[in-house]
Amino acid sequence: MSRLALVTGGTRGIGAAISIALKAAGYKVAANYAGNDEKAKAFEAETGIHAFKWDVSNYQACVEGITKVEATLGPVEILVNNAGITRDAMFHKMTPEQWNEVINTNLNGVFNMTHPIWSGMRDRNFGRVITISSINGQKGQMGQVNYSASKAGDLGFTKALAQEGAAKGITVNAICPGYIGTEMVRAVPEKVLNERIIPQIPVGRLGEPEEIARIVVFLASDDAGFITGSTISANGGQFVV
Ligand code: CAA
Repeated sequence: MSRLALVTGGTRGIGAAISIALKAAGYKVAANYAGNDEKAKAFEAETGIHAFKWDVSNYQACVEGITKVEATLGPVEILVNNAGITRDAMFHKMTPEQWNEVINTNLNGVFNMTHPIWSGMRDRNFGRVITISSINGQKGQMGQVNYSASKAGDLGFTKALAQEGAAKGITVNAICPGYIGTEMVRAVPEKVLNERIIPQIPVGRLGEPEEIARIVVFLASDDAGFITGSTISANGGQFVV
Protein backbone atom coordinates (compact mmCIF):
# COMPACT_ATOMS: atom_id res chain seq x y z
CA MET A 1 0.00 0.00 0.00
CA SER A 2 1.35 3.39 -0.92
CA ARG A 3 1.97 5.94 1.81
CA LEU A 4 -0.15 9.05 2.29
CA ALA A 5 1.45 12.48 2.01
CA LEU A 6 -0.31 15.65 3.16
CA VAL A 7 0.95 18.90 1.63
CA THR A 8 -0.17 22.22 3.13
CA GLY A 9 -0.66 25.02 0.63
CA GLY A 10 -0.55 22.14 -1.81
CA THR A 11 -2.63 23.45 -4.71
CA ARG A 12 -0.52 26.42 -5.82
CA GLY A 13 3.10 27.45 -6.32
CA ILE A 14 5.81 25.25 -4.83
CA GLY A 15 3.14 23.23 -2.97
CA ALA A 16 1.37 22.23 -6.18
CA ALA A 17 4.66 21.05 -7.68
CA ILE A 18 5.30 19.01 -4.51
CA SER A 19 1.82 17.42 -4.58
CA ILE A 20 2.21 16.50 -8.25
CA ALA A 21 5.75 15.11 -7.83
CA LEU A 22 4.74 12.98 -4.82
CA LYS A 23 1.78 11.56 -6.75
CA ALA A 24 4.06 10.79 -9.71
CA ALA A 25 6.41 9.00 -7.28
CA GLY A 26 3.55 6.68 -6.24
CA TYR A 27 2.26 8.30 -3.04
CA LYS A 28 -1.37 8.96 -2.16
CA VAL A 29 -1.58 12.74 -1.80
CA ALA A 30 -3.88 15.15 0.04
CA ALA A 31 -3.42 18.85 -0.68
CA ASN A 32 -4.55 21.40 1.89
CA TYR A 33 -5.43 24.95 0.84
CA ALA A 34 -6.77 27.99 2.68
CA GLY A 35 -8.38 30.43 0.29
CA ASN A 36 -8.83 29.99 -3.40
CA ASP A 37 -11.68 27.48 -4.02
CA GLU A 38 -11.68 28.03 -7.78
CA LYS A 39 -7.96 27.28 -8.17
CA ALA A 40 -8.26 24.28 -5.84
CA LYS A 41 -11.16 22.82 -7.85
CA ALA A 42 -9.21 23.29 -11.09
CA PHE A 43 -6.18 21.65 -9.47
CA GLU A 44 -8.27 18.66 -8.33
CA ALA A 45 -9.78 18.24 -11.80
CA GLU A 46 -6.39 18.50 -13.49
CA THR A 47 -4.37 16.26 -11.18
CA GLY A 48 -6.84 13.90 -9.48
CA ILE A 49 -5.34 14.98 -6.12
CA HIS A 50 -7.85 15.52 -3.28
CA ALA A 51 -7.92 19.10 -1.98
CA PHE A 52 -9.06 19.91 1.58
CA LYS A 53 -9.75 23.43 2.84
CA TRP A 54 -8.66 24.79 6.21
CA ASP A 55 -6.48 27.52 7.67
CA VAL A 56 -3.19 26.22 9.13
CA SER A 57 -2.98 29.20 11.49
CA ASN A 58 -5.96 27.77 13.43
CA TYR A 59 -5.10 24.74 15.62
CA GLN A 60 -8.68 23.44 15.91
CA ALA A 61 -9.19 23.76 12.14
CA CYS A 62 -6.03 21.66 11.64
CA VAL A 63 -7.27 18.95 14.02
CA GLU A 64 -10.60 18.80 12.18
CA GLY A 65 -9.01 18.94 8.72
CA ILE A 66 -6.50 16.19 9.50
CA THR A 67 -9.32 14.03 10.94
CA LYS A 68 -11.21 14.42 7.66
CA VAL A 69 -8.13 13.57 5.55
CA GLU A 70 -7.35 10.49 7.65
CA ALA A 71 -10.99 9.29 7.53
CA THR A 72 -10.92 9.60 3.73
CA LEU A 73 -7.43 8.40 2.83
CA GLY A 74 -5.79 6.79 5.90
CA PRO A 75 -3.04 7.88 8.30
CA VAL A 76 -0.72 10.73 7.30
CA GLU A 77 2.78 9.27 7.04
CA ILE A 78 4.44 12.19 5.27
CA LEU A 79 3.68 15.77 6.24
CA VAL A 80 4.94 18.60 4.06
CA ASN A 81 4.59 21.95 5.84
CA ASN A 82 4.62 24.21 2.81
CA ALA A 83 1.88 26.80 3.48
CA GLY A 84 3.36 30.25 3.84
CA ILE A 85 2.53 33.92 3.32
CA THR A 86 4.38 37.21 3.00
CA ARG A 87 3.34 40.61 4.32
CA ASP A 88 6.45 42.53 3.32
CA ALA A 89 7.10 46.00 4.74
CA MET A 90 10.08 47.87 6.09
CA PHE A 91 10.13 47.36 9.86
CA HIS A 92 9.38 51.01 10.62
CA LYS A 93 6.16 50.65 8.61
CA MET A 94 5.25 47.08 9.70
CA THR A 95 1.95 46.75 11.59
CA PRO A 96 1.30 44.28 14.43
CA GLU A 97 -1.22 42.61 12.06
CA GLN A 98 1.50 42.05 9.41
CA TRP A 99 3.76 40.58 12.08
CA ASN A 100 1.07 38.31 13.58
CA GLU A 101 -0.37 37.02 10.31
CA VAL A 102 3.03 35.86 9.11
CA ILE A 103 4.07 34.27 12.43
CA ASN A 104 0.66 32.59 12.81
CA THR A 105 0.78 30.98 9.37
CA ASN A 106 4.47 30.29 8.75
CA LEU A 107 5.58 29.29 12.27
CA ASN A 108 2.50 28.53 14.38
CA GLY A 109 1.02 26.76 11.33
CA VAL A 110 3.92 24.30 11.41
CA PHE A 111 3.19 23.52 15.07
CA ASN A 112 -0.58 23.34 14.42
CA MET A 113 -0.11 20.78 11.63
CA THR A 114 2.69 18.67 13.06
CA HIS A 115 1.38 18.34 16.62
CA PRO A 116 -1.88 16.48 15.83
CA ILE A 117 -0.05 14.10 13.44
CA TRP A 118 2.99 13.40 15.62
CA SER A 119 1.49 10.80 18.01
CA GLY A 120 0.31 8.64 15.09
CA MET A 121 3.78 8.74 13.53
CA ARG A 122 5.30 7.70 16.88
CA ASP A 123 2.80 4.84 17.25
CA ARG A 124 3.57 3.55 13.73
CA ASN A 125 7.35 3.98 14.11
CA PHE A 126 7.56 5.84 10.82
CA GLY A 127 7.17 9.41 9.67
CA ARG A 128 8.53 12.17 7.51
CA VAL A 129 8.08 15.84 8.43
CA ILE A 130 9.42 18.15 5.73
CA THR A 131 9.10 21.90 6.27
CA ILE A 132 9.61 24.49 3.57
CA SER A 133 11.58 27.30 5.22
CA SER A 134 13.41 29.92 3.13
CA ILE A 135 16.78 31.42 2.24
CA ASN A 136 15.45 34.49 4.04
CA GLY A 137 15.18 32.53 7.30
CA GLN A 138 18.90 31.77 6.91
CA LYS A 139 20.28 35.15 5.85
CA GLY A 140 17.56 37.68 6.81
CA GLN A 141 15.96 39.97 4.22
CA MET A 142 15.19 43.67 4.35
CA GLY A 143 11.42 44.22 4.20
CA GLN A 144 10.84 40.79 5.77
CA VAL A 145 11.57 40.96 9.50
CA ASN A 146 8.33 39.03 10.11
CA TYR A 147 8.92 36.42 7.39
CA SER A 148 12.63 35.95 8.19
CA ALA A 149 11.79 35.44 11.89
CA SER A 150 9.09 32.88 11.07
CA LYS A 151 11.29 30.92 8.67
CA ALA A 152 14.26 30.94 11.08
CA GLY A 153 11.83 29.63 13.71
CA ASP A 154 10.94 26.76 11.39
CA LEU A 155 14.61 25.76 11.33
CA GLY A 156 14.84 25.65 15.14
CA PHE A 157 11.61 23.63 15.26
CA THR A 158 13.08 21.15 12.77
CA LYS A 159 16.39 20.71 14.59
CA ALA A 160 14.75 20.12 17.98
CA LEU A 161 11.94 17.84 16.79
CA ALA A 162 14.37 15.73 14.74
CA GLN A 163 16.06 14.72 17.98
CA GLU A 164 12.74 13.61 19.48
CA GLY A 165 11.69 11.67 16.37
CA ALA A 166 14.95 9.85 15.68
CA ALA A 167 14.35 6.87 17.94
CA LYS A 168 10.85 6.44 16.51
CA GLY A 169 11.74 6.20 12.82
CA ILE A 170 10.59 9.75 12.12
CA THR A 171 12.83 12.13 10.20
CA VAL A 172 12.31 15.88 10.40
CA ASN A 173 14.00 18.11 7.83
CA ALA A 174 13.76 21.58 6.33
CA ILE A 175 14.32 22.88 2.83
CA CYS A 176 15.38 26.47 2.24
CA PRO A 177 14.39 27.53 -1.27
CA GLY A 178 15.89 30.68 -2.69
CA TYR A 179 13.84 32.85 -5.04
CA ILE A 180 11.56 30.51 -7.02
CA GLY A 181 9.39 31.68 -9.93
CA THR A 182 6.02 31.62 -8.17
CA GLU A 183 3.29 34.22 -7.61
CA MET A 184 4.86 35.06 -4.22
CA VAL A 185 8.14 36.13 -5.79
CA ARG A 186 6.47 37.75 -8.82
CA ALA A 187 4.64 39.99 -6.31
CA VAL A 188 7.96 41.65 -5.42
CA PRO A 189 8.19 45.03 -7.22
CA GLU A 190 9.67 44.34 -10.67
CA LYS A 191 12.44 46.90 -10.23
CA VAL A 192 13.54 45.31 -6.92
CA LEU A 193 13.40 41.80 -8.39
CA ASN A 194 15.35 42.66 -11.54
CA GLU A 195 17.84 45.15 -10.13
CA ARG A 196 18.42 43.90 -6.57
CA ILE A 197 17.55 40.21 -6.32
CA ILE A 198 18.24 38.35 -9.59
CA PRO A 199 21.76 39.88 -9.91
CA GLN A 200 22.55 38.27 -6.50
CA ILE A 201 21.80 34.75 -7.82
CA PRO A 202 24.99 33.26 -9.31
CA VAL A 203 23.12 30.82 -11.58
CA GLY A 204 21.42 33.90 -13.06
CA ARG A 205 17.78 32.86 -12.86
CA LEU A 206 14.89 32.15 -10.50
CA GLY A 207 14.44 28.54 -9.41
CA GLU A 208 11.66 26.28 -10.66
CA PRO A 209 9.05 24.85 -8.23
CA GLU A 210 9.92 21.35 -9.50
CA GLU A 211 13.51 21.85 -8.31
CA ILE A 212 12.17 22.02 -4.74
CA ALA A 213 9.63 19.22 -5.28
CA ARG A 214 12.38 16.78 -6.25
CA ILE A 215 14.13 17.36 -2.90
CA VAL A 216 10.86 16.63 -1.07
CA VAL A 217 10.42 13.36 -2.97
CA PHE A 218 13.93 12.30 -1.96
CA LEU A 219 13.50 13.28 1.72
CA ALA A 220 10.19 11.35 1.83
CA SER A 221 11.78 8.15 0.54
CA ASP A 222 13.22 5.25 2.52
CA ASP A 223 16.61 6.11 0.95
CA ALA A 224 16.70 9.30 3.05
CA GLY A 225 16.28 7.54 6.42
CA PHE A 226 19.66 8.72 7.75
CA ILE A 227 18.97 12.38 6.98
CA THR A 228 17.29 14.13 9.91
CA GLY A 229 17.53 17.59 11.47
CA SER A 230 18.99 18.85 8.20
CA THR A 231 18.52 22.10 6.36
CA ILE A 232 18.85 21.63 2.62
CA SER A 233 19.46 24.83 0.64
CA ALA A 234 18.40 25.23 -2.99
CA ASN A 235 19.07 28.83 -3.93
CA GLY A 236 21.23 28.98 -7.07
CA GLY A 237 24.27 29.90 -4.98
CA GLN A 238 22.71 33.10 -3.58
CA PHE A 239 23.56 32.21 0.02
CA VAL A 240 26.14 29.59 0.89
CA VAL A 241 26.12 28.20 4.44
N1 CAA B 1 17.45 44.02 -1.70
C1 CAA B 1 18.11 45.21 -1.75
N2 CAA B 1 17.47 46.39 -1.67
C2 CAA B 1 16.15 46.38 -1.55
C3 CAA B 1 15.40 45.18 -1.49
C4 CAA B 1 16.12 43.99 -1.59
N3 CAA B 1 15.50 42.80 -1.58
N4 CAA B 1 14.10 45.48 -1.35
C5 CAA B 1 14.03 46.83 -1.33
N5 CAA B 1 15.25 47.37 -1.48
C6 CAA B 1 15.59 48.79 -1.53
C7 CAA B 1 14.82 49.48 -2.65
O1 CAA B 1 15.48 49.30 -3.91
C8 CAA B 1 14.84 50.91 -2.18
O2 CAA B 1 16.12 51.48 -2.41
P1 CAA B 1 16.25 52.92 -3.09
O3 CAA B 1 15.53 53.85 -2.17
O4 CAA B 1 17.74 53.12 -3.16
O5 CAA B 1 15.58 52.78 -4.42
C9 CAA B 1 14.69 50.78 -0.66
O6 CAA B 1 15.13 49.44 -0.34
C10 CAA B 1 13.26 50.96 -0.18
O7 CAA B 1 12.43 50.06 -0.95
P2 CAA B 1 11.04 50.53 -1.56
O8 CAA B 1 11.16 51.87 -2.26
O9 CAA B 1 10.51 49.40 -2.38
O10 CAA B 1 10.19 50.77 -0.21
P3 CAA B 1 8.71 50.42 0.07
O11 CAA B 1 8.44 50.83 1.49
O12 CAA B 1 7.82 50.91 -1.02
O13 CAA B 1 8.64 48.80 -0.04
C11 CAA B 1 9.27 46.55 0.43
C12 CAA B 1 9.47 48.04 0.78
C13 CAA B 1 7.80 46.15 0.68
C14 CAA B 1 10.17 45.79 1.37
C15 CAA B 1 9.60 46.31 -1.05
O14 CAA B 1 10.83 46.90 -1.38
C16 CAA B 1 9.73 44.81 -1.34
O15 CAA B 1 8.73 44.13 -1.52
N6 CAA B 1 10.99 44.31 -1.38
C17 CAA B 1 11.28 42.91 -1.61
C18 CAA B 1 11.39 42.16 -0.31
C19 CAA B 1 11.70 40.71 -0.64
O16 CAA B 1 12.79 40.36 -1.06
N7 CAA B 1 10.67 39.82 -0.45
C20 CAA B 1 10.83 38.45 -0.81
C21 CAA B 1 9.48 37.94 -1.27
S1 CAA B 1 9.61 36.31 -1.97
C22 CAA B 1 9.71 35.29 -0.67
O17 CAA B 1 9.62 35.66 0.46
C23 CAA B 1 9.95 33.85 -0.98
C24 CAA B 1 11.21 33.38 -0.38
O18 CAA B 1 11.17 32.61 0.59
C25 CAA B 1 12.49 33.77 -0.99
